[in-house]
Amino acid sequence: MTGAPRGDGTRAVRAGLPDPVKYEPPLPGPVFAAHFHLPGEPTGPYTYGRDENPTWTRLEQAISELEAPGEAVETVAFSSGMAAVSAVLLSQLRSGDAVVLPSDGYQALPLVREQLQAYGIEVRTAPTGGDAQLSVLDGARLLWIETPSNPGLDVCDVRRLTEAAHAAGALVAVDNTLATPLGQRPLDLGADFSVASDTKGMTGHGDLLLGHVTCRDTALAAGVRRWRKIVGAIPGPMEAWLAHRSLATLHLRADRQCANALALAQALGARPEVTGLRYPGLATDPSHAVASRQMRRFGCVVSFVLPDRAHAERFLDGLRLVDDATSFGGVRSTAERRGRWGGDAVPEGFVRFSAGAEDAQDLVADVLRALDEAAAR
Ligand SMILES: Cc1ncc(COP(=O)(O)O)c(C=O)c1O
Repeated sequence: MTGAPRGDGTRAVRAGLPDPVKYEPPLPGPVFAAHFHLPGEPTGPYTYGRDENPTWTRLEQAISELEAPGEAVETVAFSSGMAAVSAVLLSQLRSGDAVVLPSDGYQALPLVREQLQAYGIEVRTAPTGGDAQLSVLDGARLLWIETPSNPGLDVCDVRRLTEAAHAAGALVAVDNTLATPLGQRPLDLGADFSVASDTKGMTGHGDLLLGHVTCRDTALAAGVRRWRKIVGAIPGPMEAWLAHRSLATLHLRADRQCANALALAQALGARPEVTGLRYPGLATDPSHAVASRQMRRFGCVVSFVLPDRAHAERFLDGLRLVDDATSFGGVRSTAERRGRWGGDAVPEGFVRFSAGAEDAQDLVADVLRALDEAAAR
């Protein structure tokens, strides 16, 4: 899209659309091709299907318009969020480098940590809250930030950490999965890489896996793109097209889901059996002040703790409008007892709740009824 940046909704519905062509659809369908006609010299935008695909190009352009409105940035789409995460870490780090990871981030990070260590990379960890990563930056090549963190919903000050990291000679990547670019724009806050699992709120229907990396620096983007070619972690054209189609409703979904999450957090805050309630959008949340400075929407995930595992299981069993399922960011509310996976340092009764796009009063009523029933047994 050319011209001055517009409102989120206007940008979302038009992001990445080609200029109108008579008798062509507004969003051309997925291009399924392993190779493209290529007589003569093998140059041009589309040669082989592992390198480029027009459906990816349109999606990447759309994501760039959301990540950095009106700016020249580059997005590389991947087959999953983890493919995008690994592409940044493994394309940038070399044996002997040091990297700083959050100790309370997404539960696959400890696996990544083991792999990096096996390649001779020093991995340091620190929690997200209180900008604790500041204390281990010295001599690091890359700082990895996840804010809000999943599942604890702690928030760190991206601009502060980024300035310190850059001063120490480190690059900065932000996992922006939970916020989406309509909630927070890491590149505006100074980060070098904005990374996300688009499996979640970005696409929002729980029917595909996808990821992306966006950079302002073309050399960094080229490294990430090269990694995708080497590893072959490419998105399917159908997934890429579905994702692009879904971006048109991102602002609607984000507004509704954030409003529902806030209504839910407020209702949960009044329950005596609920402890450890976290939602960055709640005025009483410890992260609210920092979150308000860097986020425009606070996300759809609320976390809280019920007295024990059995109590949490009764609660989840009792929900009728909320699926007991992992992942988050979808239009249908989901919740799960996070301790069942064994990977997060959370109490047995810890629940991660992803607010969907239902009517707030129905959702809150369902949750309160399930809480009543769980407490009565
Ligand atoms: C914060 C975060 N980053 C990355 C990922 C990985 O994404 P994917 O499952 O699409 O590979 C997830 C998945 O839950 C996540 O929550």
